[in-house]
Amino acid sequence: MKEWYDAIKTAQSVEKLEEIRIGIFGKKGVLAKEFAKMKTAPNEEKAGIAKELNIYKSDLMSLLSECKMNLQTQELSRAMKAEAIDVSLYSQQSSRGALHPVNETMDKIVDYFISMNFTVQTGPMVEDDFHNFEALNLPKYHPARDMQDTFYFKDEMLLRTHTSPVQIRTMLHTTPPIRMIAPGSVFRRDYDLTHTPMFHQVEGLLVDKEGTVSFANLKYILEDFLKYMFGEVAVRFRPSFFPFTEPSAEVDISCIFCKGDGCRVCSKTGWLEVLGCGIVDSNVFDAVGYKDVSGYAFGLGVERFAMLIHHIGDLRSLFEGDIRLLEQMK
Ligand code: PHE
Repeated sequence: MKEWYDAIKTAQSVEKLEEIRIGIFGKKGVLAKEFAKMKTAPNEEKAGIAKELNIYKSDLMSLLSECKMNLQTQELSRAMKAEAIDVSLYSQQSSRGALHPVNETMDKIVDYFISMNFTVQTGPMVEDDFHNFEALNLPKYHPARDMQDTFYFKDEMLLRTHTSPVQIRTMLHTTPPIRMIAPGSVFRRDYDLTHTPMFHQVEGLLVDKEGTVSFANLKYILEDFLKYMFGEVAVRFRPSFFPFTEPSAEVDISCIFCKGDGCRVCSKTGWLEVLGCGIVDSNVFDAVGYKDVSGYAFGLGVERFAMLIHHIGDLRSLFEGDIRLLEQMK
């Protein structure tokens, strides 16, 4: 039996080991022969022989499986070495990428509101009339619908013209209090220096018990946010109108290029408009069945922020996929 131990130990491959296994344990293998011999042995010796053979059997088996495992690991590591690709190999042509300015700006905005305990909500880009208009206090034939040139599908479906429908969707499936933002793409029929048919907004909505949310709260968070985005700027709230907020305001920052002296970018006014906001109109709460609550909402255009931060003159250049624009973002 000794030679079988040596054979197993010196086998160089898994196949060789398999041959040896058959030689020992196969139907015509040595063990079978030894057990056959046992039958002709005197009765009083049979038990002793059987015991010995069984010890051999289990010894050889465990040796076999141990050696098999070793050989397999060796073979695997040999194959891995031979077939390895050096992914760290430096290529002369490779160059570093950069985040698209819209993504970068979006990330920065979202980070701010997450740090202020707002959750991020999403909604569909193909919306229905109810969520995009009706529930936002924009009934059919309301003149304010003209503010937004809409892409329509059949059956009252449309491409959402703003992220405000996510306010409605969130209120319909949660109970207040709510602190949410909704980042995403929106669509309008517009195309010029400062408008593209698709652009991005971030919506904000805060709802809590009646009497606990004030315009002062809204002013505070937006001023803090705008200073986080643009550094030390002056912030100004101008009365405005949105159907879904009352009172409403548009928010300006002092021009970051001329510091308020008046230049081409701010059309000599010293101010840049960056946000729309207001106290949620009670008709909106009625539309979602909310009672005894108050809230504020705001909405901003991400491209507008990106253009100001990176001093980009033509909004359309953000969507032309020109690698030279991205190269400047590194
Ligand atoms: N939805 C408005 C727009 O697209 C922005 C806005 C959102 C204004 C929330 C006030 C409150 O112009």
